[in-house]
Amino acid sequence: MSPMRLLVTEVYSTNRLRGRILSGSIRVNDSIVLAPGGQQSTVMTIKGANGKSVKTAEVSDQDTELEFTYSLPARTGNLIASADARPEFSDQFAAEIVWQSDAELLPGRTYLLESVGGKSEATVSRLKYRLDGELQIAAKTLANKEAGVVNIALTNAILYDPVSVSPSTAQFTLADRETRALVASGSIRHGLRRASNVHWQALDVDKQSRASIKQQTPRIIWLTGLSGSGKSTIANMVEKKLLAAGKHSYLLDGDNVRHGLNKDLGFTDADRVENIRRVAETAKLMLDAGLIVITSFISPFRAERDMARTLFASHEFIEVYVNTSLDVCEQRDPKGLYRKARSGEIKNFTGLDSPYEAPENAELILDTVTMSVEEAADRIIDYLNSSA
Ligand code: ADX
Repeated sequence: MSPMRLLVTEVYSTNRLRGRILSGSIRVNDSIVLAPGGQQSTVMTIKGANGKSVKTAEVSDQDTELEFTYSLPARTGNLIASADARPEFSDQFAAEIVWQSDAELLPGRTYLLESVGGKSEATVSRLKYRLDGELQIAAKTLANKEAGVVNIALTNAILYDPVSVSPSTAQFTLADRETRALVASGSIRHGLRRASNVHWQALDVDKQSRASIKQQTPRIIWLTGLSGSGKSTIANMVEKKLLAAGKHSYLLDGDNVRHGLNKDLGFTDADRVENIRRVAETAKLMLDAGLIVITSFISPFRAERDMARTLFASHEFIEVYVNTSLDVCEQRDPKGLYRKARSGEIKNFTGLDSPYEAPENAELILDTVTMSVEEAADRIIDYLNSSA
């Protein structure tokens, strides 16, 4: 029995869609996977062509409606497949084709391939042999109505099954690139890259898929500024606002991280560099988990902030300079640390006897003297929304 394949024809909501079952059958409670993308869910309800709820549905020329327990970022043209028998995903495969054009096959020429699993530019990278019944005959080209076995290379990988697994997702057509006229039809025998399945597995659960079940774009909000500038207070407010908006965030804060992960580090230049390196790597893991990460560290050196930036894609990293002057921070002195540093009780204090290098290209600069905490947090949230 072929594994279940359903071609999505219409998406109603994040967990409800309709589609055509191309092979196999589907039952309530089945584990399924969206392809490509790799997000998984479970079938909650099935409605047949007449709109009646059913426990199971099979191949049909009518659409079936499905409802899932978890939402899926499905689009028209995607496939839904059994989670334990997934389609392959590759840009190279061996196939049997029947040539259907007066212009003979030209290996190396670019044609357009179309199948239920995708569309791509395609070249016949090798004509292995012509088929005459069961006979395999060496050949350099195929003329109209001749069949042959070829290797095909694509520009973009497509989803497919070998014909022995599921004929409906193995079939494809080739068309002329200029005229769009059909030149061949074929079916895929097997993928040519052993890595192809691994590749699809890798896509299976990635940053995007984790973030999409949370319906958010993972980001790093990197706050920098002097001690007492207001980083933690603003970070807290941003987190509250994100939570209220249903977003999943995590705050990495200097004072907290230094009690655990970085409790072996002090405030020499070398220790501050290592502090920021660990924080940046931790933030990267959290970003990969799909979270919106807020970091609240003095992070006094430009070089380390730039290093942190290089770990992320450009849209992911938002450097926010909490620009509060040394005078104001010292007047606020919320933890009495400036007083201790002035009296010599604390050494290497940022802004006094340890440098702070202000950002030159921060995405946002917040002036906490003219702005309330609420306004500062709103500026960050607005930035997130406008650049999502
Ligand atoms: S960073 O420079 O390595 O980024 P981090 O943000 O982790 O610093 O820690 C800064 C916090 O540690 C300050 O808010 C303050 O409470 C405390 N602290 C203790 N000693 C110092 C110091 N010498 N310089 C700056 N902050 C200090």
